[in-house]
Amino acid sequence: MWEYPDWNVPRLGGGMVIAAIATIHVLVAHFSVGAGFLLAIGEGRARKTQDAVLLDFLRLFSKVLLLAGFVFGAITGVGIWFSISIASTRATSMLIHTFVWFWAMEWVFFLVEIVAGYAYYTTWDKVPGTVHRALGWTYAAAAWMSLFLISGILSFMLTPGEWTETRDVWDAFLNPTFPPTVALRTVSCLAIAGLVAMLVANLSRSLDREGKTRVINFSAWFLSPLVLMLPFAAWYFAELPQLAKDLITGGAVAMMMFFLFGIVASTLVGLYAYFGLIRARRYINLETSLLLLSIAMIATVSMEFVREGVRKPYLIYDHLYSNGLVKSEIEKVNREGVLPNAPWATLATRAEAGGGPRTGEILFNLQCSQCHVLGGFNDLVPLIRPWSRELLVYNLDRIHELKPFMPPLVGTPEERRALADTLWELKEGSGDRGEEAAGNDQPGSGS
Ligand code: HEC
Repeated sequence: MWEYPDWNVPRLGGGMVIAAIATIHVLVAHFSVGAGFLLAIGEGRARKTQDAVLLDFLRLFSKVLLLAGFVFGAITGVGIWFSISIASTRATSMLIHTFVWFWAMEWVFFLVEIVAGYAYYTTWDKVPGTVHRALGWTYAAAAWMSLFLISGILSFMLTPGEWTETRDVWDAFLNPTFPPTVALRTVSCLAIAGLVAMLVANLSRSLDREGKTRVINFSAWFLSPLVLMLPFAAWYFAELPQLAKDLITGGAVAMMMFFLFGIVASTLVGLYAYFGLIRARRYINLETSLLLLSIAMIATVSMEFVREGVRKPYLIYDHLYSNGLVKSEIEKVNREGVLPNAPWATLATRAEAGGGPRTGEILFNLQCSQCHVLGGFNDLVPLIRPWSRELLVYNLDRIHELKPFMPPLVGTPEERRALADTLWELKEGSGDRGEEAAGNDQPGSGS
């Protein structure tokens, strides 16, 4: 069950550490994939129309890709592996074992991507134009293939589809949200690359105003697919499990807001790009391009946040809970208890306390700390402050009904009581608002 040590990050929690690293990674990776198409398409066009200004710009842009994309992409990519493997060891292990050959393919494409990208950057003017363009297309294709492969694995976690029954890796990979995920991410990649290009054009010292406008109008083409965000998001939504749909349509207000924001903001930027920049051939300055890029990045992160958020209470839907428990193990843990099934946790608290294991704390660490950090992110004390002791005990057994994005509490009746005691002590011992609330509760909490 809980065969691995758990990882406690004060204030933030392991999940937020993953989220912080993954957010940077997603943005950089999206840029890196989109930049491949912008370079390959741009170079083709610049050579055909003998546009030296655009060609010069692309040379600069390939440097930005190498410095920003490759360096930050690689560092944060490794960071994701480190953080997920200590925060969600079991899920990481399951993903590696299920998709071993897909990971292998992903790494091959990643290697091709890095080699081709580096060769592209270093061979400007050193190889014939056609060869250089071929390098650009090789980079773009390999980068997109790694997006394609990683999307199958990520979308599997939300909609494992037939895999839950067949355990067939192809069922896992070709899961219901895989195609819309690829579509949504491809659109975001192109848009982010186009917006970074506008920013770079504005920052470039060698381009005059006319040259900047030309580059901006060209880059705007990569933003116009954003108008497809709405139909693609609807397609994605249609493939979601019912509970995830419920979360988006009001079950979790944050999910609904982020989903709507992501779609609306993307669509607006897409419309502006088409009507303002392509049709009316407008120029945008440094501040505006930074603003548009920020909006697109926040919209992308919002959609990713929804993708991660609506998967609750699971890491792998209908199979592995956020707290590392496999669904079919619930009965066994309720019978035998959490402690006998969590050797690391009992070991750690025994060593610290120098006495018996602190059951309530262990239960909290193993089952709640993935989403609730005491004194930090999504703290539990404010959430239970108005509750009487009876209500707390009653609700703990039903947290998965109270808020269906939480896994059910597992453990023997004694262990559950220990968790209730621990939470009650925390609440009683915290702040003066706690005393007030406890005072109000007094009549009801006679126990
Ligand atoms: C998968 C993530 C996740 C896990 C695991 C989780 N929770 Fe929650 N819990 C949440 C979220 C999100 C909220 C909503 C917070 C809010 O409304 O501000 C919540 C809310 C709550 C609330 C308030 C409910 C209400 O209706 O007001 C309580 C109590 C609670 N959690 C207890 C627990 C306990 C105890 C555990 C461990 C046994 C736990 N949770 C595990 C995500 C989780």
